[in-house]
Amino acid sequence: MLPIYKAVSFHSVLKGGSTRPWLVLVDKNSRPKPYVVKLYKSENVDRFHFIAKEVYASVLADKFGIKTPPPALIEFPEHFRSSLAFANKQFLHDRNTRLNFSTELIEASFPFQMELHRDYLWKYDVETLYAFDNLIKNGDRTDRKPNLLMRAQDLFVIDHESAFSSVNDQTVEMFDQNQWVYHKGAHIFFRFLRDRGVSVKRTFFKEFLQVLNSINMDILDPYHEQLLEHQLDDELHYHQIKEYLCHMQRNSEKLVQILRGELG
Ligand SMILES: Nc1ncnc2c1ncn2[C@@H]1O[C@H](COP(=O)(O)OP(=O)(O)O)[C@@H](O)[C@H]1O
Ligand SMILES: [Mg+2]
Repeated sequence: MLPIYKAVSFHSVLKGGSTRPWLVLVDKNSRPKPYVVKLYKSENVDRFHFIAKEVYASVLADKFGIKTPPPALIEFPEHFRSSLAFANKQFLHDRNTRLNFSTELIEASFPFQMELHRDYLWKYDVETLYAFDNLIKNGDRTDRKPNLLMRAQDLFVIDHESAFSSVNDQTVEMFDQNQWVYHKGAHIFFRFLRDRGVSVKRTFFKEFLQVLNSINMDILDPYHEQLLEHQLDDELHYHQIKEYLCHMQRNSEKLVQILRGELG
């Protein structure tokens, strides 16, 4: 279950990205702690389940050993709302009024840039990250929108509101017919992985496979229950995601073969 914290003070609007997240201080065990809060439109929470997607992706990333800033749900109490400047109050008008998705601020982090010399990329588990993004069908890891934060030797993934895009019963049927729906060419690491030698590519995704096989997908259930309780997800949406993930797990060897094949 995610912790729920109350916002106590507004700091700034963050640049980059389209949702203009807020940097706020929250009360974490009676201490102020900086968190980045995503302010989604209500429609995006209700119809497109942005918050639920962020949560499930974050739980799964952790299982794959992919670093992600610790997530939390944030409440905006009345005294916080009334302390906001007019423009910020206005901004909240069409936004979700329930709990908000948030991640702990990764201080002194740097947005990832693809110009970074390839030699540095070896230091990160780019292979697992690519397979993970395929699994969760995350289209938001592109040159233009890497959604990766670097700090020293760590690489953090953020921003999974568009994950599990168009995951439904059809996705599974298509997979069974060997069709993998993912815009792989747009992935920030696709070319880097594709350009590796053939013999190396044959060994790709072993660790990913091992972890995928070991995950008990029921770990997502308590998060789903919590989201339901706060009207941040619905049962059909979760059912489809979980069925899909379990199917990928049952067919993990095939998934890895497809991903390897696509890298040529
Ligand atoms: N936990 C975090 N720590 C540090 N910076 C963050 C964090 N979360 C988001 N940011 C910064 O805010 C920007 C926008 O956040 P993101 O989640 O990508 O939102 P959007 O959906 O608007 O793209 C990021 O590109 C990054 O610079
Ligand atoms: Mg982003």
